Amino acid sequence: MDQDRSWIIRTTDLKVGTIFSFDLTDRSGRVVLKSGQPFSEPIRKRLLAAGVDSVTIMVMAKGEDSTQLLLECYDEEVVQRLQANLIQTEQALRSFMDELKQEHRADTEGLRSQLDTFFVEAGRDTSAALGVLAARWNQELSENAVSLMSRSARLSWISMVTGVVMGLSASDIVSMGLAGSLHDVSILFHPEWLDEEFRRSNTRQFWADFQRHPIESAEILRQASGLNERILMNVTQVHEHLDGSGYPRGLRATQILPTARVLNVVDAYLEIVEPLFRMHGVVPSDALAQICLHATQGVFDRDVTHALIEALSLYPIGTEVELSDSSRAIVVRSNSESPLQPVVRLLDSSHAVTDLLQSNLKIQGPALGGPGRRRRISKLEMQIPLWDVSTKHDIL
Ligand SMILES: [Fe+2]
Repeated sequence: MDQDRSWIIRTTDLKVGTIFSFDLTDRSGRVVLKSGQPFSEPIRKRLLAAGVDSVTIMVMAKGEDSTQLLLECYDEEVVQRLQANLIQTEQALRSFMDELKQEHRADTEGLRSQLDTFFVEAGRDTSAALGVLAARWNQELSENAVSLMSRSARLSWISMVTGVVMGLSASDIVSMGLAGSLHDVSILFHPEWLDEEFRRSNTRQFWADFQRHPIESAEILRQASGLNERILMNVTQVHEHLDGSGYPRGLRATQILPTARVLNVVDAYLEIVEPLFRMHGVVPSDALAQICLHATQGVFDRDVTHALIEALSLYPIGTEVELSDSSRAIVVRSNSESPLQPVVRLLDSSHAVTDLLQSNLKIQGPALGGPGRRRRISKLEMQIPLWDVSTKHDIL
């Protein structure tokens, strides 16, 4: 069984931009840097000035360990640049949302520039980009810190990576990233929607209002930031499905922008694994299986679904899986020719990286437990549109 482990590291050896998923403490056990905060040069100067020449890092046996093993599979500098970019993008999105709420005007330039940077990094190594996203996601789940803001940021990033795999143009990808990160801004103006009691007692009105949220978001963004009409059209079409079963307008395939189709598939995937209004999400592999099934039935765009799976693999990067010899591993890279056989890193003392395409080992299924306590879904549930927040079912 794994043990908690601790290391003492000299303050001068800490790398700027690193985001630790655990607190850093000084010799007396006092916390000097909270988990989730990026380490910076000013922090190093402050610690050294206070006589803190070394810090202790305590790694808990479960969860954090696998995240660290995941990140070690990519180039260290790339990981640091991506981590810094993710933090800055979240900050830009948070300031945009704060400004919008207070002033009803806000500038998207800061956000756009961070998404430009993310596009360049994701183009260099899509697996590293998805690995860093997965590490951040696991950290939020274990700290119970998943918010509307982080969900919006994730929609934006995963859609952009999918756009890179599909070979969309740079301007389309960044515009899609902007639309994805901002399409839920109207929810900020309806805090009551996040209250379960309110939803229960006003069910019919709530769903009717909620289904207008993409149009309301586009109106708010048009007034507040002057985003161009194509981006606003993406905002209004995020929840439109190819067969006309989506909302707010029930558009059909030819009326939906290609970039909005990407946002639609990724948003559905995220809603299944991380529901806005339900308790427990579904394991990513089952969520992708459901998306695939409904893509064949005409709900989702097949090319987009294919590209998403090519990017993530059917067992998405960062998820823990159980192998045919009962060992556990974490997925670190996808194999575009075989989504069921990604590259994994074993979660045993060897920490060996194994390409399942070249191995006799197979993935038995997702390893359950861990952050977020996601569940599996039955064959019957596969038919139920779990991506639709307005569906009246509640399977708990
Ligand atoms: Fe939405």
